[in-house]
Order: sequence, then C-alpha cells, then structure tokens
Amino acid sequence: MKVAIVGASGAVGQEFLRILAERNFPMDDLVLFGSSRSAGQKYTFKGKEYEVKLLQHNNDFKDVDIAFTSAGGGTSAEFAETITKHGAVMIDNSSQFRMEKDVPLVVPEINGDDALNRPRNIIANPNCTTIMMVVVLNPIEKLSHIKRIRISSYQSASGAGAAAMAELEQQYKEILATGEAKTIAKFPHQLAYNVIPQIDKMTETDYTKEEMKMFYETQKIMHSDVRTSATCVRVSSLRSHSEAVWFETEKPLAVADIRKALSEAAGVTLVDDPQNYVYPMPLESAGKDDIYVGRVRKDLADENGTTLWLTGDQIRKGAALNAVQIAEYLIAKGNIK
Ligand SMILES: NC(=O)c1ccc[n+]([C@@H]2O[C@H](COP(=O)([O-])OP(=O)(O)OC[C@H]3O[C@@H](n4cnc5c(N)ncnc54)[C@H](OP(=O)(O)O)[C@@H]3O)[C@@H](O)[C@H]2O)c1
Repeated sequence: MKVAIVGASGAVGQEFLRILAERNFPMDDLVLFGSSRSAGQKYTFKGKEYEVKLLQHNNDFKDVDIAFTSAGGGTSAEFAETITKHGAVMIDNSSQFRMEKDVPLVVPEINGDDALNRPRNIIANPNCTTIMMVVVLNPIEKLSHIKRIRISSYQSASGAGAAAMAELEQQYKEILATGEAKTIAKFPHQLAYNVIPQIDKMTETDYTKEEMKMFYETQKIMHSDVRTSATCVRVSSLRSHSEAVWFETEKPLAVADIRKALSEAAGVTLVDDPQNYVYPMPLESAGKDDIYVGRVRKDLADENGTTLWLTGDQIRKGAALNAVQIAEYLIAKGNIK
C-alpha cells in the first residue's frame, strides 16, 4: 500500500503524518507532495525522512493506492486527473468536488458505504464544521427525524491553515509591542481580541460559502431533507472549532434519551454536567479524535427542539482523521486494490 499526501507542509498535511503513524495505518510506502514553496523540505514519518516532491503533471502517482489531498480546491481541480488516472483513490479535503453527483461525500460513521461507489475514484471529505455536527446529530436522527437545524459556530484560527495560526500569534505580539495589530492578511479583519462573523466568501444571499456548505453537505451526508441555517464565526482560539446547535425533531425527544444515544455513539464523547461547570471546551478537545458534546437541554422556544454545545479538533475529525477513517473503511471492505 503506497500512500501520497498532497499538501504535506500544511496544517492538515502535517496532521495526516501524525494520524497515519498513531493509527499504524497499513502502508508500505509514503510519498509527499507540495508546491515549489515546500518542495525539497523533509519530514520524518515513523523514524524515516521523506522529501517533499513538486506536484506536477507526470506519472508520479503510478503506484499510489491512496492519495490524501489537502492543498486547496484549485490544486485538487487541476491535479485530480493526474492523481487518479493510474487508479489511485483520491480522498480530497477541499470543497472542490463535494457537491458533485458522481463524487461521494463521506463521514464513515454515517454513510461509509457511499464511498464504495466512486465513478471518478474521488471521495470528498466534508467541510470540517459540518462533519463535527453530523457526527453528533446522526445518533439523534435515529431517534426522530431532524427537520431543521440552527447553528452558530465558533471556529478557530487554524481552520484557515498554518499561516492563519501564525498570523493570529503575530497579531498578539504586535499588539503587546506597539498597541496595534499590523499583520492582517489571512483574515478580513484583526482577529486578536476579536470575533469575525464571516468565514469564507460572502454569497449573494448574504450567507457565506461556509454557511451554505453546512446547508447542502448536511443533506448529502445524512441523505436527508434537513434544512440548516448557520452563522459561522471566527474566534481567536488557535485550534478546535465549537458549535451551538439548535435542532427540531419530528417528535419531541427526552433529554435523557438524547444523552443516552450520544453516550453510545461512535466518535462522540458526552461531557455534560452543567451544574458542576462540566462541559467540553476547545482547549480540551484539541488534539483529540472524538467530538465532545455537552449542555444538552430542551429548547425554550420550540416544543420539538433541543439545543446542545459541541467542540472538536477540526484538523483531526474535521479533516485528516475523517479522511484516514474513509481509507480504513475501504480497506476493511476489501474495496481498494
Ligand atoms: N485547516 C483546517 O482546519 C481544514 C479543515 C478541513 C479542510 N481543510 C482544507 O484542507 C486544505 C488544506 O488546508 P490547510 O489548513 O492544511 O492549509 P495550509 O496550512 O495553508 O496548507 C496548504 C497546503 O497546500 C499546499 N499547496 C498549495 N498550493 C499547492 C500547489 N499548487 N501544489 C501543491 N501543493 C500546494 C501547500 O504547500 P506549500 O507549502 O508548498 O505551498 C500546503 O502544504 C484546504 O483545501 C482546506 O480548505 C482545512
């Protein structure tokens, strides 16, 4: 089994290296790719050094079985043919192919079998904020159909990549030194000591692309007509996204039944003792695999409504971990050469 990581130098690419090693992913060979900025850089994987190769239109993917791509939508669009033409399965972290009909959009805990039907040999990894939410809502969907979701997100700087994390740290340094943040490049406004109610580009509906991803991707993953209305907000934490989620089910549900379903769900950890200040927070979920849930309670404004809080490491379950779990699913099903 030969594995390729495209975008190895990035926040998600680096997480792939950690996760593949931690999980002892069954592989014999590894090849790393990047642009001219990182080509030639070396990274250590399981004690061995690997040099980043320049991603080019050639036959470098000839013997690759699985290519984990996390180098932005433009790169995925440009290189999909080069990556898949010799039979490699491309598991793509960008938003480029997610809503295309012949590309499955997969969270293994929910719709793993969708990955088995991939006419273009591309499998899309969903949007990070959406993955985290559906992992938590899917066990509840099994109790009663979820009709509507309202969600407000609290998304960390790392969601915008390695340079964005560095920019936030730089802004704090600049403010301490001069009283003013001078470096504002990756985010549309100063993020240090601030929150920004915009993630990704604004669309003509006045919802952002991130918010529209939550609407459409939730339907595609859950095979559902659920309608999701989101406000996605960038906050000044470094790692791990959080979400306040309000959802309406067809039948009213008891909080105890929801807590029970969540406590038994794969990939979910319930941390819910609000009377004793116990609920999950991003500092604790950072670096962990599960999505952590707490503050489960009845919605005061909607008889069939429930509200909860969740947090999870979006570079892990929201990106690299979910992609590796898709690959593990294919291997377990004997569905990869
Ligand atoms: N960060 C997250 O939480 C998160 C979550 C889910 C999905 N994603 C998605 O994952 C992708 C990567 O995100 P990231 O946060 O890891 O970004 P990042 O830290 O900015 O890293 C971007 C990576 O892409 C590579 N790259 C850019 N242009 C390239 C090209 N033309 N050819 C080859 N490699 C190229 C970069 O290599 P060089 O260093 O050589 O430029 C770098 O390794 C994006 O599509 C993003 O939307 C990110």
